[in-house]
Amino acid sequence: MTRAMAQEAVDAVLKGGSVRAAAEALGLGRAATQNRLDAAAELGLTRPRTTSNPSRWRPGAEIVAARKAEFERVKASGPLISGNTIHRPDDGPFMLIMLGDEHLDNPGTDLALWERWISYLNRAKHITGWSLGDVLDSWLKPLAHLYANAETPAPEGWILLQHYMEQIGSDLDCSVAGNHDKWAGANDVLGMIMEQYGVMHRADSLRVAYRCPNGREITVNARHQWPGRSMWNEVHGIKRAARMGIRDTILVGGHTHVSGEGVERDPMTGKVSFCYQVAAFKLIDEYADTLGFLDRNISPAVALVIDPRRADNDPELVKHFYDPDAGAAYLAMLRRKAKAA
Ligand SMILES: [Fe+2]
Repeated sequence: MTRAMAQEAVDAVLKGGSVRAAAEALGLGRAATQNRLDAAAELGLTRPRTTSNPSRWRPGAEIVAARKAEFERVKASGPLISGNTIHRPDDGPFMLIMLGDEHLDNPGTDLALWERWISYLNRAKHITGWSLGDVLDSWLKPLAHLYANAETPAPEGWILLQHYMEQIGSDLDCSVAGNHDKWAGANDVLGMIMEQYGVMHRADSLRVAYRCPNGREITVNARHQWPGRSMWNEVHGIKRAARMGIRDTILVGGHTHVSGEGVERDPMTGKVSFCYQVAAFKLIDEYADTLGFLDRNISPAVALVIDPRRADNDPELVKHFYDPDAGAAYLAMLRRKAKAA
């Protein structure tokens, strides 16, 4: 009896499932097969060679079930779908302050100007805000040397953000992350902070409907960055999106640290889309100086007064102001008139 003959019998049993099936497969009688198996047992061939802990990884069927559930979650939260709604308390006018790239911890950022703009946020007065991203510099590894030219270390950046969120968190409606915010890593601390204050937040794009009690809806579509540039037109990428079919009431973006606005009329329905490219609170920009970018920062934010009583094809539906004080005064006047009417 060789070791190979004994192993052959063991393999035949494992494959056939029984001694009888093994005997048939080997062309032997049952007694001869059993003899080989006894020899295999003596040689230690019938004991498992190894024992191990269970696998750290999920079995295939479990991964499939989890992946399907994940896809349903991702699909439901995806961009450009309806479902994100902010419920207005009344049918009257309101103001949205679109805050451009904040870069709160950058040495070239004008925090006094930032504080002036955010001082106008007041939900009780129907003035709420959007953050358009690049809240902090969050210089990532190859750019981390830039912290050498800044007084504010990365952890203090987050403390600075928290400091301001305690003041304005409840008056912010929405937030989209910028490329700098992405550099902070996949952990999405910014998203968690925004959630803490009930601010709707997305990493890339966010489309929201402001719904009045009478059913009237005003939609706002924001991205930190819209694709498409033109040296002749600062708002080119955003207007292009409107022209290509993004027919929201307001389209808004940041990222380029320049200002621009434009109005797009849907030729079929007459609906007007109001497009705004918002600049930055980082007024002194070493990077722009290095690359020779021209300064086209008209205002770090824009105040939009929306009168939902006007129709979608009314060019007065949205009015923009580069001074929050003028915007707030216009809003107060509209609301006073609405009350008196
Ligand atoms: Fe930026």
